[in-house]
Amino acid sequence: MSASGPTSAPSTWPPLREELRGIAPYGAPQLDVPVQLNVNENPYGPSDAVVADVAASVAAATSTLNRYPDREFTELRTALAAYLNRDGGQGVTPDQVWAANGSNEVMLQLLQAFGGPGRTALSFAPTYSMYPEYARDAMTGWVVGRRETDFSLDLDAARELILQHRPHVVLLPSPNNPTGTALPPDAVSMLCEAAGDGIVVVDEAYGEFRREGTPSALEVLPHHRNLVVSRTMSKAFALAGARLGYFAAAKEICDAVRVVRLPYHLSAVTQATALAALRHAPELLGRVDDLRRGRDETVGWLREQGFEVAESDANFALFGRFADRHAVWQQLLDRGVLIRETGPEGWLRVSIGTPDEMTAFKNALTEVMKEIQG
Ligand SMILES: Cc1ncc(COP(=O)(O)O)c(C=O)c1O
Repeated sequence: MSASGPTSAPSTWPPLREELRGIAPYGAPQLDVPVQLNVNENPYGPSDAVVADVAASVAAATSTLNRYPDREFTELRTALAAYLNRDGGQGVTPDQVWAANGSNEVMLQLLQAFGGPGRTALSFAPTYSMYPEYARDAMTGWVVGRRETDFSLDLDAARELILQHRPHVVLLPSPNNPTGTALPPDAVSMLCEAAGDGIVVVDEAYGEFRREGTPSALEVLPHHRNLVVSRTMSKAFALAGARLGYFAAAKEICDAVRVVRLPYHLSAVTQATALAALRHAPELLGRVDDLRRGRDETVGWLREQGFEVAESDANFALFGRFADRHAVWQQLLDRGVLIRETGPEGWLRVSIGTPDEMTAFKNALTEVMKEIQG
């Protein structure tokens, strides 16, 4: 071996980590079709007023792009804290808020800070397929329990599993993706207590779509120093393209994540965009009620057609069961309607779009089922 490293070529090129070999990058198909109901986006684009304010804010930020952005994004943390206190937060302060490029990055940072070699993360399947990927990328052991057949959590069994494995991080989406299932009241406190010194991340990416009576974990944040409530601007705020996710937690948790974040990870353009969007929060969130109604209506319609449909507190519905779900997915796509082939075998997930998009989905599904049933 020379001083500069190995001289013989490794047997496999490139010399990827063993456990990453042969793995396809995560991601739903990005296809240019008329009706896109596959990645739980908000179907409503920004108004002219929002576009103008974001553009002006980005223009102002552009004049300082020779400088690095505010590493602590203080103004944005202040605005996010104020927003959270309008949606379940109980006096969240700016130093209790952290943000990154999507809640994907926020959760990877949490795993980097609190997971790691010799540590474990735990969740309950079926659930968001990125969770095991965060664990893998942060070299954290992965333990997975099962949800019930209706996709709810058996809380006693969940507590037992936590007590058995003593995970360093518990990932609890509420509502869960891809099933739409929210955690019942009291579940968060019970599982935070079971986790002891482990961090409990309640992933509320779809939190704003929750039904009447479903609480946000933010309500119990002051009672649990190990609780992290994660949110995103990608869904209810209709800002998926801007990439802004965030969480609220004890200040000590935010400070711990600051150790693993890359310097200046949140660009000046991202900060300006998110701040402008937060100024327009009432308007951007104005469609949430329409989407909740659309969700309830879609769940009802699917049930009337004889499908099994999971209870949903999110902006999507999981329905089935199909002997050959891929064939149904493909035949919908052939009619210009893209949904998601995800979740347990036999089920498909549809995101809630505009009324016109939902009509196109229903018409296409009716045709496909007629064809399948001959
Ligand atoms: C449960 C859940 N958490 C987190 C995310 C990540 O969202 P983003 O990185 O856009 O904030 C998603 C995206 O679909 C999700 O379904």
